[in-house]
Amino acid sequence: MGKGKGYLFILVIALSALLLAGCNSGDAAEEYTVATDNNFVPFEFLNEETGEMEGFDIDLIKAVAEEAGFKVNIESMKFDGVVSGMQSGRFDIGIAGMTITEERKETIDFSDPYYDAGLMIAVNKNNNEIKSEEDLAGKKVGTRSGTTSEAYIKENHPDAELVTFPGIVEAYMDLESGRLDAVMYDVPNVKYYVANDSANLKTVGDILQGEQYGIAFPKDSDLVEDVNKALETLKENGTYDDIYEKWFGERKYGTESSE
Ligand code: ARG
Repeated sequence: MGKGKGYLFILVIALSALLLAGCNSGDAAEEYTVATDNNFVPFEFLNEETGEMEGFDIDLIKAVAEEAGFKVNIESMKFDGVVSGMQSGRFDIGIAGMTITEERKETIDFSDPYYDAGLMIAVNKNNNEIKSEEDLAGKKVGTRSGTTSEAYIKENHPDAELVTFPGIVEAYMDLESGRLDAVMYDVPNVKYYVANDSANLKTVGDILQGEQYGIAFPKDSDLVEDVNKALETLKENGTYDDIYEKWFGERKYGTESSE
């Protein structure tokens, strides 16, 4: 082989290697870590039998990932860890029934809203004293720390005795045993818990504050746009409604089933 041809040969090999490498990285989907909470029915909770996380948020983020063409690695933790994990950039995505608030928007990016929620009060079935939020003064009201309910109680019910818990299930249990007079938390969680996990509690009053959940990202994440596009497609093609129906028993947008 002449000197010139030798160089050409090496050049061709090098170029092919580059091309191959390019194709490979194109094929292998990116994997992103998704931080979620460990117990917020029916959005995310551990299925004890399978050891897998389940719920509306889990199904939704998997469908979004499939639509947008990336893989997810789901990690569950305390809700506060999801919030701070977005702020520190420790995780790529967070989904945990997280309300989009002006305050959080200063340090966290959110997708378009994916669920309409709000706050609601639960009391013991035999409690006839607390009929709405008007009756909370002087009462022991529990909720989870670091949530919009905590902020709401502090702001609107300074006369109530606020008790915060690291997990909401502890608050519900204290309510059942009479250590608390009321619990305030997200409507879908309160309703689901009262309907499925407790025979002794009931909800009272109206929805107190309209809220919307968003998928969270560290500030300036370039995933926001792709995730919004995927969400829109899922809302249009019936996949969102399939997931909604699975967990809430009705179709939110009234689309045809995607199957
Ligand atoms: N929506 C409320 C908030 O953002 C409560 C969320 C609690 N979520 C959870 N996974 N525990 O503050």
